[in-house]
Amino acid sequence: MTAPPLDRKAALLAMLAEIELDLDYDAIDTSGFEPDLQGWGDQDPIFDYVIRHFHPVVILELGSWKGASAIRMAELLRDYNIPGLVLCIDTWLGSNESLWRVAENRRMLRLRNGYPDMFGQFVRNIQHSGHQQRIRHLPMTTGCAAGLLAAYNIVPDAIYIDAGHDEAEVAADIAGFWSLLKPGGIMFGDDYTTQWPGTVRAVNRFVADQGLKLMGTEVKWLVRKPEA
Ligand SMILES: C[S@@+](CC[C@H](N)C(=O)[O-])C[C@H]1O[C@@H](n2cnc3c(N)ncnc32)[C@H](O)[C@@H]1O
Repeated sequence: MTAPPLDRKAALLAMLAEIELDLDYDAIDTSGFEPDLQGWGDQDPIFDYVIRHFHPVVILELGSWKGASAIRMAELLRDYNIPGLVLCIDTWLGSNESLWRVAENRRMLRLRNGYPDMFGQFVRNIQHSGHQQRIRHLPMTTGCAAGLLAAYNIVPDAIYIDAGHDEAEVAADIAGFWSLLKPGGIMFGDDYTTQWPGTVRAVNRFVADQGLKLMGTEVKWLVRKPEA
């Protein structure tokens, strides 16, 4: 049986404390960074749909970049008075080849001595958003995060997938996190478009294999895990 939402949120916070990630974002020095909420599709109606209809308390986001979509979800948690938490899973290394290939995106990685320095941008945006209590972060690959969260028996209500966009990456993220999702939980993601055929193929294959109903908006996909 799945534990009540607030207990599952408490378990996640306890895990973060144990691995020394219970930081006070306001205590982090982000001098040199100005708020910059550039992102992709964070105003899509799917966020409102998921949060208004399903009231998720434990939300995982795979791929957060500067935090725009996580902050959007945090805003909705506030607006609907849901005591939820968004856990942002990202390397903050732009682990997505197009983010390196496209010069404009590469600049946003803020390379310093040949290494990305964009985590400060994420934190600056969280500070500016006022949602410090609704957002936490896990700075690692999604594969590593799936193993860690499983080891701590973390059970999310909703999972938003927007990390690597190759077919194999999306397929691995879907498969790796599906088993964590609570029965009846929501998995959704970005870039279900012709521009990202790998995402479309991975989602289509998973939906067909599992016999799920695919929903979504123009660019986002969504499935609901069957109740046990
Ligand atoms: C498209 S951006 C996320 C955009 C964000 N959701 C938004 O709407 O603003 C993709 C992010 O995924 C991260 N990423 C890609 N592959 C990853 C992986 N395997 N593990 C962790 N993070 C990854 C990148 O570092 C990048 O920040």
